[in-house]
Amino acid sequence: MDATIVPNVNKHYSVLLNEIISILTPQYGGTFIDCTFGQGGYTKRLLEYSNTKVIALDRDSESKKISENFQKNYNERLYFKNLKFSQLNNLKLKNENIKGIVFDLGYSTTQIKDVKKGLSFNFTGKLNMMLGLNNFSASDVINKLDSKDLEKIFKYFGEEKDSKNIVNRIIKDRKYNLINTESLVKIINLTKKRKNYKIHNATKIFQALRIFVNQEISELIYGLINATKILKKDGVLAVVTFHSIEDKIVKYFFKSLSEKKSISRYEPKIDQGNPIFQMKQKKPIVASKKELSENISSRSAKLRFVIKNTDFYNFETDILEKFKFLLEIENLGNKL
Ligand SMILES: C[S@@+](CC[C@H](N)C(=O)[O-])C[C@H]1O[C@@H](n2cnc3c(N)ncnc32)[C@H](O)[C@@H]1O
Repeated sequence: MDATIVPNVNKHYSVLLNEIISILTPQYGGTFIDCTFGQGGYTKRLLEYSNTKVIALDRDSESKKISENFQKNYNERLYFKNLKFSQLNNLKLKNENIKGIVFDLGYSTTQIKDVKKGLSFNFTGKLNMMLGLNNFSASDVINKLDSKDLEKIFKYFGEEKDSKNIVNRIIKDRKYNLINTESLVKIINLTKKRKNYKIHNATKIFQALRIFVNQEISELIYGLINATKILKKDGVLAVVTFHSIEDKIVKYFFKSLSEKKSISRYEPKIDQGNPIFQMKQKKPIVASKKELSENISSRSAKLRFVIKNTDFYNFETDILEKFKFLLEIENLGNKL
């Protein structure tokens, strides 16, 4: 994933928009949840069909302003809440007839280009990376966590092979000056031994920091669990991911709940009846050649979707156990 390379376009481009619409089928009406409103690209298309309603969330308060403009056209057909999607259950939607829920993970072009957010290594200034409703910034992480913790974050969230060298230099340099975006990029350039000329040296470390600061692993896992609870029978759950960790989580969650077997490790194996989901297509949907030519950021997008088989609110899943190791790394944020 290379969302930190600032794209040359000013316009925000909604990734896989036509594909999302053909999966959610808003032409038949219904209530949809857009968990990542962003610039409102998906929401707008859903609301273009007259019998639809959209409940939209975004953790970034800038999205609230955009939603207020939409409200003028769509009135009560749009309800926006500045909320993290892991807290979807706060909306008390258990008894609503939700037809489709969509997550478009990652960041909008507007967010990447926002110097204050500091998501990109192309800018200078204080390390930030907070999308909204965060508990700590990238500056706190880099300047306060100890070497062991930093190494884990870089290694497992960024798959950075030179983590140790980079961390050693950070620890040395931060004794004298607070590390900012510019000095972090300089440290990475100086210490990285294994260079990959296809991506910027700082790509992996910046990815790791964004995941950690925004607690993307727990956000996604709890978002998926809560979305599954409130979705009604025949409802669609669709997720667009941008990096391999996100995709691994979504793939496992969808696959494990589409199989007819007990998740319990203990005997006896209980027949749980029909699995929670039906998976129509195992392979993810990716951007068409046309979309790739118009928006280069869509090249890492993968869309997976499932259809819910039951109306059950509660269900069993071992997703927390499966990704326990990554969740424990995210918990290092409690030290800040
Ligand atoms: C790629 S953009 C979505 C673009 C949108 N589909 C559109 O067409 O305009 C992703 C959005 O998700 C939001 N986001 C990321 N993580 C979130 C979370 N845990 N809870 C709520 N919103 C989140 C970001 O703030 C950003 O606005």
